[in-house]
Amino acid sequence: MTAPADYAAALRDEALAALDRAGVPGALESWRVEYLGRSGKLTAALRSVAQLPPEERRAAGAAANEAKALLERRLAERRAEIEAALAQNAGAGALDVTLPGRPVPEGRHHPSTIVMREIQAIFRDMGFQIAEGPEVEWDKYNFEMLNIPQDHPARDMFDTFWLDANRAPDGGFTTLLRTHTSPMQARIMEAQEPPIRVIIPGKCYRYEATDATHESQFHQIEGLAVDKGVTFANLKSVLYDFARRMFGPDTRVRFRCDYFPFVEPGVDMAIEWRGDWLEILGAGMVHPNVLRAAGYDPAVYSGFAFGMGPERIAMLKYGVNDIRLFLANDHRFLSQFR
Ligand code: DAH
Repeated sequence: MTAPADYAAALRDEALAALDRAGVPGALESWRVEYLGRSGKLTAALRSVAQLPPEERRAAGAAANEAKALLERRLAERRAEIEAALAQNAGAGALDVTLPGRPVPEGRHHPSTIVMREIQAIFRDMGFQIAEGPEVEWDKYNFEMLNIPQDHPARDMFDTFWLDANRAPDGGFTTLLRTHTSPMQARIMEAQEPPIRVIIPGKCYRYEATDATHESQFHQIEGLAVDKGVTFANLKSVLYDFARRMFGPDTRVRFRCDYFPFVEPGVDMAIEWRGDWLEILGAGMVHPNVLRAAGYDPAVYSGFAFGMGPERIAMLKYGVNDIRLFLANDHRFLSQFR
């Protein structure tokens, strides 16, 4: 029969070998229960020391206590080793370069944004600045300073969302959602001296029933050039150039007379597109009343202005047949543009 002190030493060696094989925290815990737990092998050996004959107790007890202290120390060391290895693995070491990549969903620009940026780039190259203005606008800028006084029949051209803010003493409306970007003509002329060459992209609103060609919210890009000696020939050359850069170098362009209160003469410009003439913008020479309202002397300064709808142009370019698609937020539509 093995002496009790030798038994403790054998148990110790067996436990140390097992500890070396334990590689994960869960295995360490099983090991601890097996040897050092309440009914573990070493605990049992320690307990049995009491049953030994007195002359054997001292040596056996010392051996068992020594083994216990050693195993507890080795357990703590082993735990620290395993935790350090795991921590290292969780870093760069855990990267599996053989795994296939996860596809990153790719964002797209809205078709209105695409077309507006194209238009802006063309006018920027021609020396125009880009300005922006408020969508909540005063009647004064949206109408009055543009030669559309109260009760002028031309107000019927613009179905207006009036706002309750700042009602006049007689109850009349003074603020609105701008019906076009033209009020920025008045704001810019009022704020700075000629020469002016600027385009103004932005959102506009009309109180209208919507259908395939009408939407109550849409974009416009306004243009304005004012200086001494600006002529209708300048208007034509800039807009010809724009049309050819936008739609191709062979694009044919047609001007016809049209009426807008803030220009005289006024025109609309059409381009030939797949055999049809399609109107893409309104334009004209800035009306003397508009120059005067902004504080310019029409005997000294002249200018031209134009306004176009990027959604209309996007519909042409991309063959979109319903303007409501631009605001419907249908991914099947939006994901087709880049
Ligand atoms: N503001 C006009 C509209 O919304 C478009 C327009 C026409 C703008 C002629 C202009 C212009 O600057 O000269 O229908």
